[in-house]
Amino acid sequence: MEINAQQIAQIKQLVLETGEFIRREAAGFSPEKVERKGANDLVSYVDKNAEKQLTEGCLTILPGSGFIREEGGELKGTNPFRWIIDPLDGTTNFVHGVPQYSISLALQYEEETILGIVYDVARDELFMAQKGKGAFLNGSPIHVSDCPNLGSALMATGFPYNKSDRNTVLLAVLYDILQQVQAIRRFGSAALDMAWVACGRFDGYYETTLNPWDIAAGILLVEEAGGRVTDFSGGSNTLFGRQIAACNPRMHPDLLGVIQAHFS
Ligand code: IPD
Ligand code: CA
Ligand code: CA
Repeated sequence: MEINAQQIAQIKQLVLETGEFIRREAAGFSPEKVERKGANDLVSYVDKNAEKQLTEGCLTILPGSGFIREEGGELKGTNPFRWIIDPLDGTTNFVHGVPQYSISLALQYEEETILGIVYDVARDELFMAQKGKGAFLNGSPIHVSDCPNLGSALMATGFPYNKSDRNTVLLAVLYDILQQVQAIRRFGSAALDMAWVACGRFDGYYETTLNPWDIAAGILLVEEAGGRVTDFSGGSNTLFGRQIAACNPRMHPDLLGVIQAHFS
């Protein structure tokens, strides 16, 4: 099932307008406006209003579609379309004034992701992929890197906000990867980490404890840019499996090898 060019243009416009709202609010944002969902899990009216704007816009473009959203939860649809939305990925960065956050929006048809958009609000970079049609950054085609091995790789990762999920296994994996790669980054927006693998800025990325809204768009971006995305067993349970290893295909076996030494 495909959506038409006019609908794609409307979706892009919706994301850009929501990004404009986030950019405006970032300018005068004060940390008192933050609420806590958990000890380190932050949310603000910006996340909530952005999600409302996206939800209303998506329903105008595809009436009756369903949703999986970070803030508002699930909404059952009356047709096979479903949106998976993180209105502000990188909230901790946002509230600290660190300009590394994004909107992540994916569209599924019968549970297959057919469109993924990650919008880097501060840099005005729009990453978009359509199933079978490639991946693009501001309209230009993008591709994963061809970095041949971990030794030359710039890797990205992230750590759970929930302290009880920060276990010694994760630190052991981090240690082993750090010993092998050129360098490693933790930038704080999983959606952008994936988009940056798709365009070759990062050679690979892995993380645990993620939710579908963090990565739904990013998975399609990396795959359409020629990369491989798996769970830590090398399988395809990526969207709901809470484990992601995303990489160029040359390096993917090596990355999995290091991870699997600890996650078996
Ligand atoms: C978070 C970011 C971060 C990742 C966390 C996510 P949020 O999303 O993607 O990079 O490490 O696991 O929860 O809370 O900023 O939308
Ligand atoms: Ca997120
Ligand atoms: Ca979020």
